[in-house]
Amino acid sequence: MYTLGIETSCDETSVAVVENGRNILSNEIISSLRFHSLYGGVIPEIASRMQLEVITTVAQNALKKARCSLKDIGLISVTALPGLPGSLLVGVSFAASLSLTLRLPLIGVDHVHSHIYANFLAGGYVPEFPFIALVVSGGHTSLFLVRDFHRIVILGRTQDDACGEAFDKTAKLLGLGYPGGPEIERLAKKGNPRKVKFRCSGTRGAYDFSFSGIKTAVMYYLRDHRLRHPGCSLRADVAASFQETVVNALVRKSLDACRKERIKTLVVGGGVALNGCLRDRLLRESGKEGIRCCFPERSLCMDNAAMVAGFGYQLFRKGIRSSFDLSPFA
Ligand code: KG4
Ligand code: ZN
Repeated sequence: MYTLGIETSCDETSVAVVENGRNILSNEIISSLRFHSLYGGVIPEIASRMQLEVITTVAQNALKKARCSLKDIGLISVTALPGLPGSLLVGVSFAASLSLTLRLPLIGVDHVHSHIYANFLAGGYVPEFPFIALVVSGGHTSLFLVRDFHRIVILGRTQDDACGEAFDKTAKLLGLGYPGGPEIERLAKKGNPRKVKFRCSGTRGAYDFSFSGIKTAVMYYLRDHRLRHPGCSLRADVAASFQETVVNALVRKSLDACRKERIKTLVVGGGVALNGCLRDRLLRESGKEGIRCCFPERSLCMDNAAMVAGFGYQLFRKGIRSSFDLSPFA
């Protein structure tokens, strides 16, 4: 069965065709990033207007690349939540209209869950249930216990900023571009991760995260350092120390969850899963405890519709359906 996936939760407009939930026939992505980088963050109004303009073309391109037409599609899967309301509305309205006119089943999926599913695409090793999943993206930082595609239990989440958001905001403080994650990673390679002692704030739940305090600590550190040592730049050390502290928190809590739940597979997803320091540390530390750690293919870490199509297909197989009045605000 061919599933048409639609993803418009943030700045991307993506449409994909995925066969039987695994085989990606096309995965078209257009980003409005260059319009937002001017402001150092995503401007929702710009994102949704551009999505409205391009979604039909992106869908046509996805079908063309997959060498199929709408009559070959058996299911429509769309990101229904969470995300920017205006952006979600574009994708959900487009998906619901297609489903209604073509009389195709419709399924609205949770964007954060679909990041986990990126690990099941594009061949390679398929994680076995149950597993612990860490989703680290620009808008979310969550730990889950995944028993099956339709049995995903949240263990903890960020209490304030998401992990990628903390990278983006800290990059801005360091005078780096947007998105900040890759920029910080690049600069951190030249710095000493033990030079500055930052720490992440305490959290209510054992598996919750907090990243807004460390961003403020970076701000004060840079201000004080500039006053005390004018002309001396510590940017690379600050980037490396910030990254080290954030990675430490992610690794520690993910492995704690694996130990506590007695689970031997850890699955990672989301844009921050591209971070080399996080990948190396998670692979090394989980390996020491006999825990298998999986990451999606690099091209599937960031927002894309293939993961939405694949995940929707798996939910469909479990008998889950959405109605035509699917709302991103439910
Ligand atoms: O998953 P994603 O495309 O968006 C959301 O669903 O929110 O992730 C985007 C986030 C951005 O915050 C970006 O800075 C971060 O992923 N990111 C990284 C790296 N590459 C992207 N963070 C740290 N290191 C990276 N190499
Ligand atoms: Zn995402």
